[in-house]
Amino acid sequence: MKTVKDYIRTIPDFPHKGIMFRDVTTLFSDPRGFRIAVDQLLHPYTGTDIDRVAGLEARGFILGGAIAHQLSQGFVPIRKKGKLPGRTIEQSYSLEYGEATMEVHDDAFQPGERVLLVDDLLATGGTAEAGIKLIERLGAQVVGCAFVIDLPELGGRKRLEALGMDVHALCSFEGA
Ligand code: PRP
Ligand code: MG
Repeated sequence: MKTVKDYIRTIPDFPHKGIMFRDVTTLFSDPRGFRIAVDQLLHPYTGTDIDRVAGLEARGFILGGAIAHQLSQGFVPIRKKGKLPGRTIEQSYSLEYGEATMEVHDDAFQPGERVLLVDDLLATGGTAEAGIKLIERLGAQVVGCAFVIDLPELGGRKRLEALGMDVHALCSFEGA
């Protein structure tokens, strides 16, 4: 029986030479692959109160939407700067070259809400940390950070755990 990891395609030298791109479109497009990924992302949180699911642009939207539906809860997009129409708060984070900024609507969470944060991949943890900060700045609480893929050599898990986060990943790949 195929595992989640077996559905992920690796494309060498994308987007730059030397990068092994872990492509989840092959996981998402397979009916069984997508189902088991969503189920396994949720598994550790069975019996946990989750008020809302937040997804990080872009692939976190696909997973987060399915997870929110399964929980019968709402979904909140955390987007790259300039995409959300309402009043937002923003948080910058470092990329390999330069900086990027994530935004969320400033009324997206109520104080005290328990939020599950979702994305496809954890690398350095910079993107997830920006998401965590946005959620916490609005007074909500991140009860878990769930990813399909962890790249342990890039240190994201340690970085998020140092912030006190519960980190859950379905599989890992060695080498960035
Ligand atoms: C990728 C991935 C994560 C992030 C992880 O997204 O989907 O969101 O990088 O990297 P980090 O842990 O080092 O922050 P990317 O920035 O390529 O954007 P996209 O999802 O919109 O394609
Ligand atoms: Mg992303």
